[in-house]
Amino acid sequence: MQRKIIIDTDPGQDDAVAMLLALASPDEFEILGIVAVAGNIGIEWTVKNACKIIELSGRTDVRCYAGCERPMRRVLVTAEHVHGKTGLGGTDLPEPTSRLGPQHGVDFIINRLLAEAPGTITLCTLGPLTDVAMALVKAPAIGPRIREIVMMGGAFSEGGNITPAAEFNIYVDPEAADIVLASGVPITMLPLDVTHRVLTTQARLDRIAGLGNRTGRTIGAMIDFSQRFDLEKYGWQGAPLHDPCVIAYLLRPDLFAGREINVSVETASPLTRGMTVADWWRVTDRPPNVNFIREADAGGFYDLLTERLARLP
Ligand code: BDR
Ligand code: CA
Repeated sequence: MQRKIIIDTDPGQDDAVAMLLALASPDEFEILGIVAVAGNIGIEWTVKNACKIIELSGRTDVRCYAGCERPMRRVLVTAEHVHGKTGLGGTDLPEPTSRLGPQHGVDFIINRLLAEAPGTITLCTLGPLTDVAMALVKAPAIGPRIREIVMMGGAFSEGGNITPAAEFNIYVDPEAADIVLASGVPITMLPLDVTHRVLTTQARLDRIAGLGNRTGRTIGAMIDFSQRFDLEKYGWQGAPLHDPCVIAYLLRPDLFAGREINVSVETASPLTRGMTVADWWRVTDRPPNVNFIREADAGGFYDLLTERLARLP
């Protein structure tokens, strides 16, 4: 049976791959809408990029909505140094022609959750948690109606990627992450600990770029662009492919492993702002609030991704 999902995203090359994986999987997902939030780059670019990726997939039945243009309390921090000035460096996709959804992204999330049966909508978050937190603040009644939030964010044993302590999505809007983590909604978190297990080796990228379709060529070029930063930083044979882990987890949870623990976020300390404090060893009595994923079958992940992307134009 199809799962109803809303994707909230800040594309971003790895966001784009995650979107394409979802758009290529109509048997498993009914995509109710895609909300663009400020994060990797400003909102004017994330909205435009989300529309471009939808059009690349040929799935123009899926609508894009503009979400929040800044975090709840903080000044927006972006990552042009990784993703390029447009957020989709390495690509030259045509200007999108699709019309944006008529409502603000936060209202779209609220209204769909109120309109559909409780427990049926999964929120897939690939960027800062601003839109979801704002929706929970504006309409607390939606909390119990959310089936699950599956998010890319956080870090435990890998340390941070934007500061020594923090992963980018949580760092950008720690107050939003705090609201979401304390909401009582079932959460699955795909932190750096797992995204660092699914590296884009050259052989894996070549398979995707060589699929013979425009999607494969576009992904090859854009990941080639964004990974240059990580290859230099980590000195590994490949770069992490973060956001597609969210969609892959929903398609094939058997490829991943983790456990239910408590995760809390630091919002006060300037030194460790946005740090996800993961009680992996259960040394506190804070109740578990997150299914925290740490392991992935990288070969299975890339087989799935490649097979699905081959279905697109
Ligand atoms: C996350 O930060 C962004 O740069 C990526 O798109 C991903 O969502 C990884 O820390
Ligand atoms: Ca992202």
